[in-house]
Amino acid sequence: MLNERLLTAQDIPLFKLIDRAELIEAFYRLLDGQLLCYPQREVVSGWPPGEAEHDALVLQACDQRGGWLYGVLDEQRLVAAAVVDCLVIHNAGLQLRQLKFLHVSQAYRGRGLGQRLFGLAAEQARRMGGEGLYVSATPSRNTVDFYRRLGCELLSVPDPALYRLEPEDIHLYLRLA
Ligand SMILES: CC(C)(COP(=O)(O)OP(=O)(O)OC[C@H]1O[C@@H](n2cnc3c(N)ncnc32)[C@H](O)[C@@H]1OP(=O)(O)O)[C@@H](O)C(=O)NCCC(=O)NCCS
Repeated sequence: MLNERLLTAQDIPLFKLIDRAELIEAFYRLLDGQLLCYPQREVVSGWPPGEAEHDALVLQACDQRGGWLYGVLDEQRLVAAAVVDCLVIHNAGLQLRQLKFLHVSQAYRGRGLGQRLFGLAAEQARRMGGEGLYVSATPSRNTVDFYRRLGCELLSVPDPALYRLEPEDIHLYLRLA
């Protein structure tokens, strides 16, 4: 049975149990400020080497400064999670908070968990005083279409620091004000 709750620093090791498997058939890139979709097959079979460990450090720092970590568990197994950082990002004339993590395990996708977690993350960003949610999205078509369907818009100028971290990501925001 699924249950959901706030996560703490002790739960961070559970994040690597999320099954990231995905068959990606197409990606987006930006061309002259417009999204261009192009076919490219990529099989994601799990966490790339070192990424779960790196993410754990990022999530620990985020938790320590007051970030929001939230998960859906099937028994004791974490199957979906969302994280919002409390750091303020100024962009698009708004004070934004970043969606630091959103993943749903493969077997649990397509049943509303992603949408629910995204809605809770947006609520949380608003509670932190945010006027919008910053999303640095993996450029796969599925991911970008998911966020755009939920109301995210393309940022004309990505945050320079976040862009340096993920230059291939599609940088989006959801206006909350
Ligand atoms: C993207 C992701 C979080 C979506 O979660 P999910 O639980 O499968 O999505 P939901 O079932 O809540 O779907 C929510 C809405 O998005 C739509 N949607 C979901 N996947 C979609 C896709 N691949 N393409 C287009 N729309 C999609 C659904 O149709 C639904 O809209 P509807 O209510 O109008 O039908 C999930 O697929 C995932 O974890 N993917 C891999 C990791 C990832 O890309 N994370 C984001 C990193 S930035």
